[in-house]
Amino acid sequence: MPIDLKKIETEALENIEAAESSDNLESLRVKYLGRKSEISGYLRTVKDLDADDRAEAGEEVNRIKKNLKKAFEGKSKELREKEVSEKMTKERIDISAPGKKIKEGSLHPITQALRDVRRIFNSMGFYIVEGPEAETDFYNFDALNIPKEHPSRDLMDTFWIKKEEGMDNYLLRTHTSPMQIRFMEKHNPPFRIVVPGRVFRHEATDATHEIQFYQVEGLMVDKNVSLAHLKGVLTHFLSEFFKKDVEIKFHQSHFPFTEPSVEVFMKLKGKWIEIAGAGMVHPNVFKAVKYNPPGPDDWQGFAFGIGVDRLVMIRHNIDDVRLLYGGDLRFLEQF
Ligand code: PHE
Repeated sequence: MPIDLKKIETEALENIEAAESSDNLESLRVKYLGRKSEISGYLRTVKDLDADDRAEAGEEVNRIKKNLKKAFEGKSKELREKEVSEKMTKERIDISAPGKKIKEGSLHPITQALRDVRRIFNSMGFYIVEGPEAETDFYNFDALNIPKEHPSRDLMDTFWIKKEEGMDNYLLRTHTSPMQIRFMEKHNPPFRIVVPGRVFRHEATDATHEIQFYQVEGLMVDKNVSLAHLKGVLTHFLSEFFKKDVEIKFHQSHFPFTEPSVEVFMKLKGKWIEIAGAGMVHPNVFKAVKYNPPGPDDWQGFAFGIGVDRLVMIRHNIDDVRLLYGGDLRFLEQF
């Protein structure tokens, strides 16, 4: 015999037994049983032997091949079991290990404040309604008794939207008051509503001015509604919002859509801070929505517009309104 089959068999069996991984075993299988193995090469020469030798050699090679195959299969099964169990041990969850902290987000301080606003006014029987941020000049100005020549209509104060042929004049609402008109056009008194929402002013920004901010409009229409009711409602709202007894006072002021008009101040650490504009609904506003045919039972109402950003700044001691819109996580993660 030109090659020592016995020696190859012994060597192969030893190597199989010593194999440490499935990969390792696979290269041994290629080495001993593959097409280029010594055994395969030898088998190809068997056909050239004498008939007797051929039978004997063929039988011997087949016996060895079968024997090696069996050894490979056994070892392969053993290695695979070992590898699977090692993998499972490695990936097993260690329930005693300290947990990974999940990063929890939080609501923007303005969103938190708006939720409180809704909740508190709702508890006083106010409906919450919302209106469009892009308004017509009719709702933002005319119907609110704001004359054509009023300075707030100026290009310097208001973001106007480019007018298209046949379209109304659109702008980004400068206050939430237009929703007074939209609501009264569709509903009859008595009612009480608040309108939280974003408003826009075309002006230079600084620590106390932003081009966008939030207001809460309030409107209550009924018989015999007075400034005293307004004072009661605002005092209750602010006390709930700041979770302490709050003192407020009115200063005489002017808005085209209220008469009389007031500015609302709140006392804070001995100082009076302005937080809203308000007043009794002007007769021209009721006229614009076709309330009140002249008579003794006229509807009356109060309206107010609270600056939400101001409330948030007071609540959290924030000294620059721009922080609220800067999107800086170092700021926002504090809430
Ligand atoms: N709309 C006024 C403003 O933006 C505030 C206001 C609302 C005043 C309602 C009176 C009544 O300044």
